[in-house]
Amino acid sequence: MRRTITRRDLVRAGAAVGLVASVPGKLFGQAPAVVVRKAKPLVIASPNGFYFTNGGAQTCVEKAFLMITQGGDVLDALIEGVNIVELDPLEDAVGYGGLPNADGVVQLDSCCMHGPKKRAGGVAALEGVRTPSRVARAVMDTTDHHLLVGKGAQTFARSMGFAIEDDLNTERSRTLWLEWKRRTDPLHYLDPAKRELASRQVSQQMVREGLMSGRHLYGTINCSGINAKGQICGVTTTSGLAWKIPGRVGDSPILGAGLYVDNEVGAAGSTGRGEANLYGLCSFLIVELMRGGMHPKDAGMEALRRIKANTIEKRLCRADGNPSFNLSFYILNAKGEYAGVALYREDEDERGAVGQKDGRLVRYCVCTESGPQMLVCEPLLPGLPQG
Ligand code: GLY
Repeated sequence: MRRTITRRDLVRAGAAVGLVASVPGKLFGQAPAVVVRKAKPLVIASPNGFYFTNGGAQTCVEKAFLMITQGGDVLDALIEGVNIVELDPLEDAVGYGGLPNADGVVQLDSCCMHGPKKRAGGVAALEGVRTPSRVARAVMDTTDHHLLVGKGAQTFARSMGFAIEDDLNTERSRTLWLEWKRRTDPLHYLDPAKRELASRQVSQQMVREGLMSGRHLYGTINCSGINAKGQICGVTTTSGLAWKIPGRVGDSPILGAGLYVDNEVGAAGSTGRGEANLYGLCSFLIVELMRGGMHPKDAGMEALRRIKANTIEKRLCRADGNPSFNLSFYILNAKGEYAGVALYREDEDERGAVGQKDGRLVRYCVCTESGPQMLVCEPLLPGLPQG
């Protein structure tokens, strides 16, 4: 059964934070060395950071928050947190059991950024490793590069000691892929326009029938955090777009798109249609807007307006010209202020994949000294992506 953070855990965590804020130096001969507390510790994530425990006691945001308040490195804590989601076979949008590409192969993307160290790492189209976020971390820690892809990423992971598995499908992800395959024109590569249409229609039909969540077509987890010293880090990890053309890489592993962190300013990360985010590098945009003084919510809304303005292809628009997809950003600034924003408020349908239904609102989650909570994203547009 799921265990949430107890009051005792929080008192303990709060006490640890308090110590950081008030440990005195030598009592004689010098003023007490008070460590100034710059921010209240906080972890923010997409809603799957609140749902999944991989059969254990803690969710992603709970685990990460406790590690941060116990003095752990912020990025270590976030990666331990998202590992819970990557490894949970019930989450079919991230890591092990993520929905595969058009060939039935699970290809994973991830990146991470360490604000204080000003370092970053990422992997894309990685096969065979359940926890791509850990490989992204290894790219950051042990190479001179920021992004490794495909076979090269897998060879690197093997050389770093990661177990390489033949197949990361679960029975559920394979069954869904076979259903998609059965319904899709087997000759779809011949006509890109028709293939795209057929693929989208089939996917949307499967969502309408309750076989899978609409959120999981582009499902991802983004998780960022700040500790009492004001140190900010972030991580994003995903199996990417379900049934994608093999080799397709979305926004998640791309610095500035699926994630951007600046230790002096804040962090932003995304879930949703990666192509729309990639076009404007919106996580970078959001952080830059916050650098100029915008609140996280206002910066996120401005990025969503940019995405709306850039979405002019008819196939990607509703009848009223607004985008026919959803995209969310999870944002925090160096003061510890935060926001979750989305193109549309109402899209989510948790039937099946998550096994719990909490309405149809696009949400995000945070964990603070008050414990974990689920919040509703601020929407830019009324209605549903489908119109
Ligand atoms: N945002 C996840 C993806 O588009 O791959």
